[in-house]
Parts: sequence; structure tokens; C-alpha cells
Amino acid sequence: MAIKRSSDPQPTPPQPRKSHKPRPNYEVTLLSPKANDRENEQNEDKIRPQKLADYIGQKDLKGILNIAIAAAKGRQEPLDHLLLYGPPGLGKTTMSLILAAEMGVNCKITSAPALERPRDITGLLVSLKPGDIIFIDEIHRLNHMTEELLYPAMEDFRLDVTIGKGQTAKTRSIPLPPFTLVGATTKAGALSSPLRDRFGIIQRLRFYELDELTAIVKRTAEIIKTSITESGAVEIARRSRGTPRIANRLLRRVRDYAEVQKADTIAEELAATAMELFDVDNKGLDWTDRLVLSTIIEQFNGGPVGLEAIAAATGEDRKTIEEVYEPYLLQNGYLSRTHRGRMVTDKTCQHLGYDVKSENRQTELF
Ligand SMILES: Nc1ncnc2c1ncn2[C@@H]1O[C@H](COP(=O)(O)OP(=O)(O)O)[C@@H](O)[C@H]1O
Ligand SMILES: [Mg+2]
Repeated sequence: MAIKRSSDPQPTPPQPRKSHKPRPNYEVTLLSPKANDRENEQNEDKIRPQKLADYIGQKDLKGILNIAIAAAKGRQEPLDHLLLYGPPGLGKTTMSLILAAEMGVNCKITSAPALERPRDITGLLVSLKPGDIIFIDEIHRLNHMTEELLYPAMEDFRLDVTIGKGQTAKTRSIPLPPFTLVGATTKAGALSSPLRDRFGIIQRLRFYELDELTAIVKRTAEIIKTSITESGAVEIARRSRGTPRIANRLLRRVRDYAEVQKADTIAEELAATAMELFDVDNKGLDWTDRLVLSTIIEQFNGGPVGLEAIAAATGEDRKTIEEVYEPYLLQNGYLSRTHRGRMVTDKTCQHLGYDVKSENRQTELF
């Protein structure tokens, strides 16, 4: 792919590589879909919806769970074991808490890395009350021993423990109350198939649409007692990468800005100005996204280029590019992945103000 600088620059031309804006000193995790420490401290719980009716979007998922809840209640049985998969920040933990509330049971939250020793999972299982929900985050990271203990627990509500060692060892079965396991993962493919097969319901969470994110921003604004206009909410939603956690985080940052400016409401222009200041552009790309893309264009002629080379040229960590930045860029057509590496697309060049001469298109012509 041969790319020239446009002679007729777009309204917001990118900076040439050498003068790419200096690295900003704001928190660089602004657009990361994972929860940061500050959010954990501030407790995302306050803004989490508590009822299925308040859970915005994910229509298919809600429809299926509504039926499952009604059926389970009718039979007076716990819900089927449920596996939720999809990128971080889309509402997996939230959904698990809502299910517990709807069923009127407790939800015990843990994650695979916290279930290292066999007694971690056995302790959790024997403490359950009938109908309780166990939520295991990052369930693809469970170790083998813990998984083995989970199989009979999930299937027959039974815990098989071995007492003693060697030839005198005996296996004892302890009955468990019926319970529901909700597993969450960002990598459904990394789950072992015996574990996956034991889930009665397997559901993917999708990125949210603009109107859904707008509704989420307005809902959160009300909870944190911030006035916002419809178009102000849209402006924040547009830059949120389809992810409620990012929408809520951007809203909090824009609110800070509004307070400092002594604005009494978050209007469209104020929201836009604040987010430009945080370097989040109108497509939800930040400084690092644009650095990665313009580096591929300027140093690697648009690609294809390997992740290692991109990491070296940008000074970013390879894993961070792969896990934090790339998924959104791939999902939204700013990057494509080929067996020879990553390539930018025409859409990338247009957004960043580069001229495109796609060789691929020419070969298609002749
Ligand atoms: N459908 C939704 N409606 C409203 N808010 C949501 C929704 N999904 C997620 N959120 C908000 O986004 C944040 C992150 O959700 P969470 O359930 O922790 O995501 P995950 O567990 O998938 O990483 C929560 O604070 C929650 O308030
Ligand atoms: Mg979570």
C-alpha cells in the first residue's frame, strides 16, 4: 500500500510522525475497558443497575434470561449454570448481581486467580445456601484441580474430596445445596470443553449501540446528580467505544471539567471540548491509538507489519497494544489482521487525514 500525505488536508490533519504530539500526562487508562483502581475504590456498585429492567441493551441476553428466571422460579429450582463471554466492561459482573437479586439469593463473587488451592473452591462451595449464585470471573484461568472439583459440583451438586494419602486414601462425597455457577470470560475459546459443556446457557455480550450508551450516560448522570443535555450525553456515548464502563468513566471526567468551568450543565460543546482536552477524538480514539495507526502508515507504508515491530516503533508494550488498543481498532475497521501482520484501512487514512492509494484495489481493477 502506497500512501501520500494529502495535498488537500482534512479538517483535522494528523501530526507527522516526528512531531506527533508529546505523550499526554493524563491517566492513560481513560479508554481502557478494564476497571482501574480508582473505579474499584469509588465502587462501581453505586451506578450498577440492580434490576433486569434497568439493564440497558443486550436485548437477546435479557430475553433469554427472563425466560430462564421465570422457569426456574416456577419449578422452584436454581437457574441453569450460565457462561457469559465478551470484552471487559460490557456488564458481565452486573448481570450476575442482577440475576441474584431477581432470584432473591446471594451472589458470591470470586475470580479464577483467587481459586488457586483446592480448599479455596471447596470452602466456597460448602458455604453455599440453596439457590445461591457463585460468580467466577476470568473462568478460563481456572487450574486443573479446581476444574475437576467443579465438574461433580456443577453436575450433581456433589463435592468429591479425597481424605488421606496413598493406598489408604478414601474419596468421600459431600452433598451440596443446589446452586448456580455464573462464569465470565473474555476468551470463550480458552475454556476447556468439559467445563464449557456443563453450562446450560452460554451467551455472548455485544458492544452497545449509540442510543443504548446515551441512555446509560443519562442514567448514570442522574445517579451522580449531574445535569446533562441529550446532545451532551450523545457526545460522550459516541466516544465510549461501545462500552458502558468507558461511558461512565468519560462522564465522570467531563463532570470534573464542567465543575472546574463552573458550568451548570454538560452540553454538547462542553463535553466535546473536555474530551478533546483528554485527547479522546470524535471516533473514540486516543493518543496511543492514533500513534499506533500513524506509525503503521508512516513507518511501515500502511502495513502489513508485525505486532513486535509496531511495539518497538511506538515504545508501547506489545501486550497492551494487543489487549487494550487493538480489539477496538480491529472491531471498527481501523486495522485489519492478516497472516503477515496488521494493516491500516482506507477508513484509517481518511480519519487521520492521509491520502490512500490502495494497491489492492488496483489489482482488483485489472
Ligand atoms: N447494560 C448496562 N446498563 C447500564 N449500565 C451498565 C450496563 N452494563 C454495564 N454497565 C455499567 O458498566 C460498568 C461495568 O460493568 P461490569 O458488569 O463490571 O462489566 P464486566 O464485568 O463485563 O467487565 C458497571 O459499573 C455498570 O454500571
Ligand atoms: Mg467484571
